[in-house]
Amino acid sequence: MLFGATGDLANRKLYPSLYRLYKKGKITERFAVVGVARRQLSNEEFQNSVKESILTYIGENVEIDEFISHFYYHSHDVTDAASYRELKTLAEGLDTTYNLDGNRLFYMAMAPEFFGTIAESLKSEGLTDTDGYKRLVIEKPFGHNFESAQELNRRIRTAFAEDEIYRIDHYLGKEMVQNIEVIRFANALFEPLWNNRYISNIQVTSSETLGVEERGRYYEKSGALRDMVQNHMLQMVALLAMEPPIRLNTDEIRSEKVRVLRSFRTMKVEDVKDYFVRGQYDNGMVDGVEVPAYRNEQMVAPDSNTETYVAGKLMIDNFRWAGVPFYIRTGKRMAAKSTKIVVQFKDIPMNLYYNTKETLNPNLLVIHIQPEEGVTLHLNAKKSGQSMTTTPVRLNFSNKSVDRMNTPEAYEKLLYDSMRGDATNFTHWDEVALSWKFVDTISEAWENAKEESFPNYASGSMGPQSSEDLLQKDGHTWWPIEEFDVDNC
Ligand code: BG6
Repeated sequence: MLFGATGDLANRKLYPSLYRLYKKGKITERFAVVGVARRQLSNEEFQNSVKESILTYIGENVEIDEFISHFYYHSHDVTDAASYRELKTLAEGLDTTYNLDGNRLFYMAMAPEFFGTIAESLKSEGLTDTDGYKRLVIEKPFGHNFESAQELNRRIRTAFAEDEIYRIDHYLGKEMVQNIEVIRFANALFEPLWNNRYISNIQVTSSETLGVEERGRYYEKSGALRDMVQNHMLQMVALLAMEPPIRLNTDEIRSEKVRVLRSFRTMKVEDVKDYFVRGQYDNGMVDGVEVPAYRNEQMVAPDSNTETYVAGKLMIDNFRWAGVPFYIRTGKRMAAKSTKIVVQFKDIPMNLYYNTKETLNPNLLVIHIQPEEGVTLHLNAKKSGQSMTTTPVRLNFSNKSVDRMNTPEAYEKLLYDSMRGDATNFTHWDEVALSWKFVDTISEAWENAKEESFPNYASGSMGPQSSEDLLQKDGHTWWPIEEFDVDNC
């Protein structure tokens, strides 16, 4: 049952992902999708809109009629008990028609203010009372600070146990984010060096070229900190920093991630400025097109104090990472759409090649999350010829160039996992709670102090100067992201 069936996420991501799973044979004929939303639609109209979204986003519709015949529509009022009872009758009928053994997945892809009410009503009206499994898949935002997240969690827990709740962080469905663990734990080469003796710093960048689009109302209250850092950025850091789990199962992996989040150095509100900086985009040029400043976007206050860019330094105070800064940065309207991780190794103890008048480049391991997917290792080698001068070389692995296939969309994997009952790539409540507690201190500092420099970066740039300064204080600089594209290697 998909709540928010007429929304953007359902159309852009969920229907195309279900279709791909169907085409790959990962969903059998024994399935039904009930689209739930406020609008009045007939089953046929709904099926046609699903068909339309598949055509738009996939561009093919082989076996489409067979696929959409599994789709049903229920026009719903989230606050009306009778509407849930009708939904229950529909679900029971489909259980019989499709032989579903009472297995039910409730997917919340709509306005977050209704998450709690829906979960409670699913229970009170008996929809969760089923012989099969019952699972709740829930989209972000999961609260907007620790307190509201805790309240939301309390409400959904009245209907679902923790192991029945699948909190989506779509970054965890990305192929190369999942690859972080494999690169670390399946290679003899990296893990022995993966600590403060050999690593100088780690940089995680997730930049976007898009602005806030039509989401001004939501974004004004969220900003980049809540929208990207609390979830996606901290999850990537947790995967990079965690200890090897004793087993590769959901509980063990999640508990190692929780330990990382627990080891983040906590800040006092007055210390936030030493660790985190914020930005807001001005007008500028992105991909050759003139774009407006954030303050001129729809539904944004003309004197908005909301950040569209965050850069920060995280210190992980445990034995492995003491002294190694994890720098993160994310922003809208930046120069490129790119998510990359750069692991910078420490310089070797002594440079034998100084007489070449060239300084050695540090070894870097670059993990390309998107748009290109791959890994690049930056080494130094001998320049061919008589002299012993060095030259930088790059060893490159690119997912696309290996199998020439598009890797599955994150949502495809996450939907499949939720049906199989694998919650590894979803966030546990403990992770959500710790991330909010960490981020809340930063929000407190920022909400109490208006940032006079806003807007402080031009659209199409790599963010404000303060972000460069943050690293310079430590003697580091951001590695340029475009130069590191797999295609440029
Ligand atoms: C979402 C944010 O969680 O992630 C958006 O709400 C952002 O603001 C998006 O654009 C970025 O995701 P991706 O997969 O395009 O990097």
